[in-house]
Amino acid sequence: MKRSSRIIDLIIGAGLIGVSALALLYFVINERFEWIPEQALELVRDPEILKRPGSKKCSECHKDIFDAWKESRHSISWTSETFIEASENRTKEKCLPCHVPHSVQGEKPSPRLDLRDEGIYCVSCHFIDNKMQGPYDLLAPPHPTFRNPDYVRSNFCGSCHQKTFKEWKVTAVEDTCQDCHMPRKKGRLTQKAGLNLLHKKRWVGDHRFLHGKITEKDVIMETKWEEKFFNVSLLNKTVPHFVPTADNGDPRLYLYIKFFDEAGEQVDSAKEIIAPQQETALPYNKKVDYRYRLFDPVAKAEVDLKYQPAWSKEKTRVFAKTVPR
Ligand code: HEC
Ligand code: HEC
Ligand code: HEC
Ligand code: HEC
Ligand code: HEC
Repeated sequence: MKRSSRIIDLIIGAGLIGVSALALLYFVINERFEWIPEQALELVRDPEILKRPGSKKCSECHKDIFDAWKESRHSISWTSETFIEASENRTKEKCLPCHVPHSVQGEKPSPRLDLRDEGIYCVSCHFIDNKMQGPYDLLAPPHPTFRNPDYVRSNFCGSCHQKTFKEWKVTAVEDTCQDCHMPRKKGRLTQKAGLNLLHKKRWVGDHRFLHGKITEKDVIMETKWEEKFFNVSLLNKTVPHFVPTADNGDPRLYLYIKFFDEAGEQVDSAKEIIAPQQETALPYNKKVDYRYRLFDPVAKAEVDLKYQPAWSKEKTRVFAKTVPR
């Protein structure tokens, strides 16, 4: 009896020492990492990470971020069929810089030669001066890091999204590209067993680089009948860049209008293409007017607004409305 209780005490003691050691390590790594000498870090560094590896390497620890990035358009910026077509089978030199960038640093990048199938990958956006740059001042045992405040600023995205960045800037809206397209959630930066216990939770930006959605609350429609005219206006109320917006892609909104007479017969129709490449996209907070002459007696109009992204031939409905006279 006595002996077994002593063994239990020993086990509990050892357990307590283990837990305290872990707690101390957690505290040092998260709060006092300047205490850790550079030589000690050398022992746990993984030199492969600093050789510009493919994103699979980063996924050994940053699995959640990798999975999100994999779903993003950035991960297919080189393999996208519509890009291959538009860049004449990727032979046009001037199309490479933003689609297979070497390193993003606030201005148009230069193209890289290796791992092009990875498109815009982890290393393009984070590896500068032999360190992983990011928004935090933290200690990552496997690789050196450096805090760079540009990661939470729009000009980082403006390196490539140059036209959209200019459109955003003149709106003077405070929300950054990241606020809307990389919304942050509390979570861990690493999922690797062991490391995940040693690092506290932080804000993690959504690396799917979400496309963004518009509804009738974002693009507001007004209509007005006159004796011989039907007037429609569209107002981009909430999106602080043109809708749609693009540097080289050709995203479009289509406005379809059909006119019907008293008997319900269609008597006329009209169509607008609202697209950056045709300089007809909707600027932020500025009404755009469309006016249609009516030739026949008209009893009602049906208005249908559809959206087609740059990389698809499919259109989805934003809203549809019937407007009686
Ligand atoms: C300055 C950076 C930059 C350069 C250079 C560039 N692009 Fe792009 N491209 C972008 C960005 C940013 C997007 C994202 C959507 C948008 O803003 O158009 C994009 C998207 C696209 C798309 C739509 C997405 C897709 O996969 O279908 C196509 C097509 C495209 N680019 C073709 C080209 C072609 C062709 C060239 C060369 C003539 C080129 N790009 C050069 C930045 C660039
Ligand atoms: C197009 C550029 C881009 C690509 C590609 C990219 N990131 Fe990021 N990353 C960012 C930006 C911008 C932030 C800052 C987000 C924020 O918090 O506002 C960030 C933040 C991070 C952070 C810190 C946590 C956070 O979200 O703030 C980690 C870790 C990270 N990225 C890892 C990766 C890994 C791993 C990959 C590849 C699977 C990757 N990133 C791909 C731009 C990029
Ligand atoms: C062996 C594990 C491991 C691998 C592999 C790894 N990282 Fe990390 N990384 C970490 C840890 C741990 C942190 C810190 C986590 C924390 O403190 O929350 C970190 C932090 C970061 C940060 C945040 C930097 C900052 O200052 O905000 C970035 C960015 C980053 N890693 C990018 C990468 C990229 C890109 C790759 C692949 C080339 C990569 N990491 C590979 C473990 C790893
Ligand atoms: C290295 C250049 C580069 C940087 C930096 C960059 N992007 Fe992109 N982005 C592109 C290209 C190229 C595409 C088009 C990829 C494709 O579809 O072929 C794109 C696509 C996108 C899309 C999808 C657009 C669509 O039509 O669905 C969003 C959203 C986006 N980027 C947001 C961002 C945000 C936010 C940042 C900053 C955190 C950023 N990007 C930084 C080049 C870049
Ligand atoms: C207040 C939120 C908000 C901010 C800030 C914002 N966007 Fe958007 N963005 C959206 C919404 C909503 C959409 C979907 C509507 C659309 O297609 O234009 C969108 C669409 C896009 C698209 C898809 C192309 C298109 O129009 O079809 C790209 C690329 C993009 N944004 C890039 C950026 C960049 C780069 C910045 C920063 C300079 C930025 N956005 C700032 C909300 C925002």
